[in-house]
Amino acid sequence: MGRTQTQVGIVGAGPAGLMLSHLLHLHGIESVIVEARSQRYCEERIRAGVLEHGTVEMLRQTDVADRLDREGMRHEGIEIGLNGHLHRIPLTEITGKSITVYGQHELVKDLIARRLADHGEIRFECGNASLHNIDSPHPFIRCEREGQVEEIHCDFVAGCDGFHGTARSSIPELVITCYERIYPFAWLGILAEAPPVREELVYMHHERGFALYSMRSPAITRLYLQCAPDENLDEWTDDRIWTELQLRLGCSDGWRPREGRVLQKGITGMRSFVVEPMQYGSLYLAGDAAHIVPPTGAKGMNLAMADVFVLAEALRAFYKQNSRAKLETYSSICLRRIWKAQRFSWWMTSLLHLSPDATPFDRRRQLAELDYLTSSRAAAASLAENYVGLPMEL
Ligand code: PHB
Repeated sequence: MGRTQTQVGIVGAGPAGLMLSHLLHLHGIESVIVEARSQRYCEERIRAGVLEHGTVEMLRQTDVADRLDREGMRHEGIEIGLNGHLHRIPLTEITGKSITVYGQHELVKDLIARRLADHGEIRFECGNASLHNIDSPHPFIRCEREGQVEEIHCDFVAGCDGFHGTARSSIPELVITCYERIYPFAWLGILAEAPPVREELVYMHHERGFALYSMRSPAITRLYLQCAPDENLDEWTDDRIWTELQLRLGCSDGWRPREGRVLQKGITGMRSFVVEPMQYGSLYLAGDAAHIVPPTGAKGMNLAMADVFVLAEALRAFYKQNSRAKLETYSSICLRRIWKAQRFSWWMTSLLHLSPDATPFDRRRQLAELDYLTSSRAAAASLAENYVGLPMEL
């Protein structure tokens, strides 16, 4: 059996785990990451792609934004569409801030490269991870790599292993509360080999269902269609997907998405989820392990980044100033931001999707809300402020 001693044991090499390890390194704190999947899998897993202003700033200040600054697509607005008519929300004009479109897997690549260059330890392909002694100051992670059992003994464990990971389920059920909402629809997403033919994202409310036009690079578009949660992907040929995208996204001024080879397709369910508190004993949860937002507000990865920013600062205060105060407030500080992002993501989702449960009253109210959003500066300002990201708090 292999035994390693470190300060912080991190489960999961997604954006949260990698960024935490990077921030800790900058604070002079050692960590080891264990990850179930291979490096290649982590680097190619297609996920969200919108970075808030504050997330980009954090990446710049910690010197991992070179490629992001070169290749990321900075956007100063988004379009909200109503049955083929577009209305621009000028994010930068309203807030002075912008967002950056950069695939999560690109950021993961950058963070892995940086950790490895800094001699950071990331152990890929560690199966069957389990957490032990988390109710004590001497927790450890046990996992298996190449048929060998390995133990990582540490002072703290950071659970950054996503919604289905092992970290959250290691906490006794009696000491946590989970808040959840499952939506009666899902997204069918494709990645297409087609240059984006619009500069900004289009969120379209359509009587056939919501659709989103996004992008990844000057050569690749990312598109989504609202579908049923139990939709069978096999029934969606590329032709059928494009026909539906054209119907929903085609605009009265003649604009429509450009088609191209479908590189990837998948269905994502939609849920809102929060666990409280985000900490138990020496285990601290961050990112999707602690909360899930529906993708409509583009908040998932940004919340993960905000969590680890707070956690790294709390661990710095512990190791460098011998203070536990920030560790004790970690959960409540993060949850304030998380609940505001939950509210916003729920609101964007309810505003833009057709709900099979909506009454005729709900439907009229929804159309009035879209009308209000696209005709009131105050309503647009509220969307803009949340979309570019609320300020980071410590
Ligand atoms: C994406 O590009 O994948 C994307 C953009 C905006 C969203 C969700 C996903 O709200």
